[in-house]
Amino acid sequence: MENIINNAICVRGLNKTYSNGFQALEDINLQVKCGEIFALLGPNGAGKTTLISIICGIANSSSGHVEVFGHDNITDYRIARSHIGLVPQELTTDAFETVWNSVKFSRGLFGKAPSPAYIETLLKRLSLWDKKDSQIRTLSGGMKRRVMIAKALSHEPDILFLDEPSSGVDVELRKSMWQQVRELQETGVSIILTTHYIAEAEEMANRIGIINKGKLILVEEKESLMKKLGSKKLLISLYRSLAEIPKPLLKFNLQLADKGNVLVFSYDPSKEDNAISDLLDHLKKNSIKYKDIDTQQNSLEEIFVQLVNA
Ligand SMILES: Nc1ncnc2c1ncn2[C@@H]1O[C@H](COP(=O)(O)OP(=O)(O)OP(=O)(O)O)[C@@H](O)[C@H]1O
Ligand SMILES: [Mg+2]
Repeated sequence: MENIINNAICVRGLNKTYSNGFQALEDINLQVKCGEIFALLGPNGAGKTTLISIICGIANSSSGHVEVFGHDNITDYRIARSHIGLVPQELTTDAFETVWNSVKFSRGLFGKAPSPAYIETLLKRLSLWDKKDSQIRTLSGGMKRRVMIAKALSHEPDILFLDEPSSGVDVELRKSMWQQVRELQETGVSIILTTHYIAEAEEMANRIGIINKGKLILVEEKESLMKKLGSKKLLISLYRSLAEIPKPLLKFNLQLADKGNVLVFSYDPSKEDNAISDLLDHLKKNSIKYKDIDTQQNSLEEIFVQLVNA
């Protein structure tokens, strides 16, 4: 048995073939820990929405199991679903309803007793309090998305799914939404977001799952993912430019940049050899003077492109 205390979500052996015969998910196994922000990162059509729709119980799998805090999401649907709030990719709001009524109604759907105090806190936290009496159709796209978040949180779930939370949201609002998501995490809510914005995963997630063509190709702590796959570069700014890499230095993985003014040394930071000091010794021996040294880490973007194209 899985450790149900530590896992908010446990997915085992999940497959999905749509009725037209297209296999959208293949043998997905995944655990999402309590209280973490988990980013499911993948290109368009990778299967992100399919996967979270199945976890949330709004689409059927072809085979496999999903547990939400240990409750099977089919045999124990009501309990499993009550733990979950979902903000879908497509915005669907009751255009003529006010923000307040719409959120109140969503809470009622889950059979929860009314709690004006909770809804007030929620709307204030999402910076929607001054819009509480506005009809949803009069709000901007970003505000509508926040109303969707409020609706998803109306029944006090402890897991929040955000399917592409940044689509149609400008940079400013995206940043404030990220902040709000972090604040939610601080209240103990586990968050699963899907995104094809690498920057979003890099900025937000504690762990990242990369999905491509229906397969989960990697699940890893963000920090260790960056460390493991991110080769580092040492940028050495030279006093005098070089026309080519001098022969004694050919054994190092070097390139010239900035018209020969910068030597770029790519190395694997996880290896504990002395390549850097060895290189610097060689520079000294060969009278190559430098004025500055800088390092550069591969971004998650480069890692992602490498993996998806592998
Ligand atoms: N109802 C359906 N019938 C047949 N195929 C479908 C259906 N829904 C989705 N698919 C296919 O399943 C694959 C995964 O779709 P899904 O919506 O899960 O991708 P996604 O990762 O969420 O993509 P996006 O980033 O564009 O939102 C796609 O190839 C899609 O065309
Ligand atoms: Mg999607």
